[in-house]
Amino acid sequence: MDKKQQDQLKKEAATKAAEIVKPGSVLGVGTGSTVAFFIDALGQRKEKEGFTLKHIVTTSNRSKKQLEGLGFKVDELADIDQVDLTVDGADRVADNLDGIKGGGGALTLEKNVAINSKKIIWIVDESKLVHRLGGFPLPVEVLPISCEQNFRKFEQEGLKPQWRKDENGKRYVTHYGNYIIDLAADPVPAPHGLADYLDHTVGVVEHGLFLDMCDEVIIAHSDGSIEDKRK
Ligand code: 5RP
Repeated sequence: MDKKQQDQLKKEAATKAAEIVKPGSVLGVGTGSTVAFFIDALGQRKEKEGFTLKHIVTTSNRSKKQLEGLGFKVDELADIDQVDLTVDGADRVADNLDGIKGGGGALTLEKNVAINSKKIIWIVDESKLVHRLGGFPLPVEVLPISCEQNFRKFEQEGLKPQWRKDENGKRYVTHYGNYIIDLAADPVPAPHGLADYLDHTVGVVEHGLFLDMCDEVIIAHSDGSIEDKRK
């Protein structure tokens, strides 16, 4: 599948998701190129139907800027009790709807918005589907103070760490001033075991294993069908 085809599929999944957002609800909006299509589609609903939301929270400045450009007011997660629905992209989605996220480096805010959401929908093109989690570097956000120790530990554990780099070849710095180490665990041997290990590693801020969180995935297939896969 070339990029043009893939973008078309992303747009189809995103448009479908935008149709099911309820007016007056509290919406969480994720990050990435698929979500950018979702935001565009929300903007179209706003223009055509005068569609409004009670609150919107986002998982990145990129999404926030795009939403504000379309006239939506964006709130801080800290000011919201609970999000009704979060729509986000994903880097890989397994058969059981567990996922790898964070390809765009927004994993920490993405997970914080996700766990404060009543419902989570991911929007993907079919290339993101895998039977078992893997096929994509697993991002781990680490604090600069102990990142070298974390990196060496991951090497010793056989997790094949790589520093995420920015376009200038420097270490990628997250929204929160941290670094990202991408692990090459493919397939992820025991997702819950690895998540538990990372959750208990001092210096790890967050990781891209999103397990038991997603309720529904809207998948655009290259045969033109849109699949709505639920837990
Ligand atoms: C950002 C993410 C994105 O949702 C993920 O990378 C998918 O991006 P795209 O829609 O551009 O393929 O997790 O941190």
